[in-house]
Amino acid sequence: AFIKEVSGVRVLENQLKDKLKLDYVLIVPGDSDELDWVKQEMGKACVHYLNGVLHSGQTVAITGGSTMAAVAKMMKPLPEAEHCLFVPARGGLGERVENQANTICAEMANKARGEYRLLYVPDPLSEESYHIITEEPSVREVLDYIKSAEVVIHGIGEALTMAERRKTPQEQIEKIADGHAVGEAFGYYFDQQGEIVHKVRTVGLQLEDLSSSKHVIAVAGGKSKAQAIASYFKPGQSNVLITDEGAAQQLLRDT
Ligand code: G3H
Repeated sequence: AFIKEVSGVRVLENQLKDKLKLDYVLIVPGDSDELDWVKQEMGKACVHYLNGVLHSGQTVAITGGSTMAAVAKMMKPLPEAEHCLFVPARGGLGERVENQANTICAEMANKARGEYRLLYVPDPLSEESYHIITEEPSVREVLDYIKSAEVVIHGIGEALTMAERRKTPQEQIEKIADGHAVGEAFGYYFDQQGEIVHKVRTVGLQLEDLSSSKHVIAVAGGKSKAQAIASYFKPGQSNVLITDEGAAQQLLRDT
């Protein structure tokens, strides 16, 4: 029965890889909407994958969220990648501290025996403060590390769930809802066609920075995120998806 289950997952991986036009898809059994340990299995899979692609001395930019927190929880020393630098991909997005990129970044770096640099910027930022803050030498330095990161690891969220969790102002929630956003990543909200409906103004990695020179790994699972994952991959922003069976089956069926 175990072999049958494993080969079933492999079939799903290939189908999803074709559907989303990705370089690599990894699916863990189960549905993280229902069982919390499935999220940790995705975390473990991500750490394992990272150890295979990251080289010593490289920089990793990471986002926040509970899935990324699970990656941090499962992080361990990376024998193939020593002395790496971990940085948060973007400034604060209104998350509680456990879900903030800074917190997750420090935990990952400590467990991987690497270094970290953090971003201290308030959010949301007015246009004026944005320009002043990004001119600060200490912020600039971290921003340079972020832009030159060789590997990016990020979560994908369901649009309205994320907007509400981040205490987004009402008029922005309306914009996100009226624009029929279904997915969110890096503080960008996407509709079913993958068009950007709204973007949180904060410093750090912008979508256009995800050039082909970076290795971009998305980690997101749960049946409830199927639409979100599909919307994010429409324009093809990442190379790799680590997900679970719940999201994969729903995605292949309904999107
Ligand atoms: O940007 C995506 C969200 O950070 C995902 O959050 O992993 O808690 O669902 P989550």
